[in-house]
Amino acid sequence: MQTRHTCVPELLDVIGSTPVVRLRNLTTHNEAQLIVKLESANPAGSLKDRPAWYIIEQAERTGLLATGGTIIESSSGNFSIALAMIGASHGYRVIAIVDPKLTPTNRGLLEAYGAEIILVDEPDDSGSYHKTRIALANRLQHQIPGSFRPDQCFNPLNSEAHYQTTAQELLDQADHLAAVVCTVSTGGQLGGIARAVKERSRVVEVIGVDVEGSTVFGGEPRPYLTPGVGLSWTPSNLSDLSLVDEVYKITDEDAYQACRTLVRSEGLLAGVSTGAALTVALAKATRGHPGEQVAFLASDRGERYLATAFNDDWLSAHGLTTTADPEALRKRAQELMPYSTRPAEECANHLPGLAAELGSPSPALVPSDRRWDRC
Ligand SMILES: Cc1ncc(COP(=O)(O)O)c(C=O)c1O
Repeated sequence: MQTRHTCVPELLDVIGSTPVVRLRNLTTHNEAQLIVKLESANPAGSLKDRPAWYIIEQAERTGLLATGGTIIESSSGNFSIALAMIGASHGYRVIAIVDPKLTPTNRGLLEAYGAEIILVDEPDDSGSYHKTRIALANRLQHQIPGSFRPDQCFNPLNSEAHYQTTAQELLDQADHLAAVVCTVSTGGQLGGIARAVKERSRVVEVIGVDVEGSTVFGGEPRPYLTPGVGLSWTPSNLSDLSLVDEVYKITDEDAYQACRTLVRSEGLLAGVSTGAALTVALAKATRGHPGEQVAFLASDRGERYLATAFNDDWLSAHGLTTTADPEALRKRAQELMPYSTRPAEECANHLPGLAAELGSPSPALVPSDRRWDRC
């Protein structure tokens, strides 16, 4: 029988405790400093490792998921990839409900981990696929015995994971934090971080970033190309908009150019949503003061975008420019204005009853106060 050496961590034990680094070149000495939390350092490569494992660990503990069970989730990206890693490690079948936006790279990653993929190509009433994907995932859960739905869109443990871990780590790692900038889709990142930051200090600003065409903060829906950001309603993981000081809507062009500029100017290869966050973080930093820090997350690894954001032919075919110019990024950031400075009054787009309408399970899991500490 194999002896278990308890001081050497297992793969899932090294989720979290990610480093924070400061950027050298994109800001001047007269401005605030940009600092980045490298969620790309998680074992499956993104910020989603945290909520995925947090939710699955609780499901195991409370008996909602047992060995040989099936995990079913609606996600074309990082959350499915994180679940696929967990499934491979702990012996679960993982079914990822995806849409036509699934990139060949993410398909390849899901297949490498052994996940099963079901494609939904019927758009919902907003033109995106979120609602049709979630409804199918919920129907499948009723049909497959021993299955479990993490339900990242409606499960409050998504933001709880970031509240308990990502945010507490960042608050301990930054010593002069003036603002934290988070992109939004399910609201896990922004909802959890906003709550923790405001509990620790009311003066640290919390800034939300959506993409034009998404309606997390209201507005007119239209197709957009920025992956990982956006939803057609304000997610329940972001229930308290009064914790958010400002929200911005950036363009696809902003997000793609900024992630290209980040790697060329700073050597940090990260994904497109990181570019979206950087654009707004730079706007805040250029208006900030020396000695202050503006934080954002590198939400996933740039290798996932070699065929898109870092491929000139793909960019040209999608009407995006191929430059990566730090001065152009700084100019754009300096001009950027908030979409709202009173999001609680101006931007709520909650759809009460949507979870029940789509058949989402009501989350019965009990949050723990677990943080990830390495041995
Ligand atoms: C790369 C990336 N950035 C940002 C986000 C947004 O995070 P959240 O869903 O916690 O709002 C996601 C969500 O899938 C993502 O995959």
